[in-house]
Amino acid sequence: MKILVLGKGGREHALVWKLAQSPRVERVFCAPGNAGTALDGVNVPIETYDFDGLMRFVKKEGVRLTVVGPEEPLANGIVDAFQKEGLRIFGPSKVAAQLEASKVFAKKLMRDADVSTAEFRIFDHPDPARHYVETREYPVVVKADGLAAGKGVIVCSTTQEALAAVERIMVKEEFGRAAGRQIVIEKRLEGEELSVLALVSGRAIVTLAPAQDYKRAFDNDAGANTGGMGAYSPAPLATPDLLAEIESKALVPIVHALKRRRTPFRGVLYAGVLVTNQGPRILEFNCRFGDPETQPVLMRLKTDLCDLLEAAVEDRLDDFAEETLQWDPRPAVCVVMASQGYPGNYHKGKVIKGLDEAAKLPDVKVFHAGTKESAGMTVTDGGRVLGVTALGDTLADAKRRAYEAVAKISFQGAFWRSDIADKALTPKPANTPQQ
Ligand code: GLY
Repeated sequence: MKILVLGKGGREHALVWKLAQSPRVERVFCAPGNAGTALDGVNVPIETYDFDGLMRFVKKEGVRLTVVGPEEPLANGIVDAFQKEGLRIFGPSKVAAQLEASKVFAKKLMRDADVSTAEFRIFDHPDPARHYVETREYPVVVKADGLAAGKGVIVCSTTQEALAAVERIMVKEEFGRAAGRQIVIEKRLEGEELSVLALVSGRAIVTLAPAQDYKRAFDNDAGANTGGMGAYSPAPLATPDLLAEIESKALVPIVHALKRRRTPFRGVLYAGVLVTNQGPRILEFNCRFGDPETQPVLMRLKTDLCDLLEAAVEDRLDDFAEETLQWDPRPAVCVVMASQGYPGNYHKGKVIKGLDEAAKLPDVKVFHAGTKESAGMTVTDGGRVLGVTALGDTLADAKRRAYEAVAKISFQGAFWRSDIADKALTPKPANTPQQ
């Protein structure tokens, strides 16, 4: 069968690479893709917002399953549009995708479903929000309601910072008018973050191996928040008991609550969890595969991903009780190589060298993110450029191999964190602040 993956990042390259390994898959297209998806699949020059163009392509090529990578098309209703045309697509409906697209929707649903999350208040006008932040204990987190490419979540240590955050989101509308119409203000919790991704269809929930990602730009969690500078899986922090608690007290209640509302969730339910001294607390839900978590998770998955996604789309996910998923027992580490300046401004078009040498290393896969082909060369085309991922007998070994591959690759202005996986390799203080 033919499959179409939508998006152009490292997550999408990992999806294309994994789906192409299925014996049932004849070809994997990627729209619009990057230089890496062009190697493991076939790129199609259609943007993810062009729903009509994508549907025309799917019908013309006889694509049997479309898999959505990023959140924007989901929030804009691509699944509803495809389904109206009778086309099979993996991802949640527009209403269910509000779980990620609206922080207000997510917090209210968590409250209704009795899911543990930070105390919060919702505001639709700056004046009461300003009064509220005057009376708070700090730190607090101020969140724009809508999608803001990860930038609409502002951690504030003082009243002045919180007032400035309210101003930026609601008055200056820095993240867009719709995104700033409402805000959530919540207590900032302390603990360690964990990414728990599950495939969901109806009431069936199949939890994937847990991962941890590194959101800050530089070592020791310094610098700005990014989309993610590296990840590893499995995460030793996620003991079987903790995972069971997250499933029963967060995933199950949310999935059931959405079903009760007649807006059942189908797709990837990604819980951003903070493991605190009082137990797990949900920071946010996303409704898609994580990036870069997907890279190490899929590196380890042995079960046919095509079978899994197809079962979800056909409401047969119960066939895959969690225990039956096959995993490579070896841990995987992904190190993101980024362009100098990311997550702010950065240059594009820098020639990337050493990809072939890195690819020769055993149990290493270089997933492309912001790359493209230009005049027979692979050049940078984004902030996050590559996700260099390796398996190892131990987590330390996987880390060593990933960095061995990183050392073979170069482009002007390249930077990366040197401490990916250290959270699990080095002893740490009991409480580390939420990023
Ligand atoms: N790595 C964070 C995310 O995918 O949202």
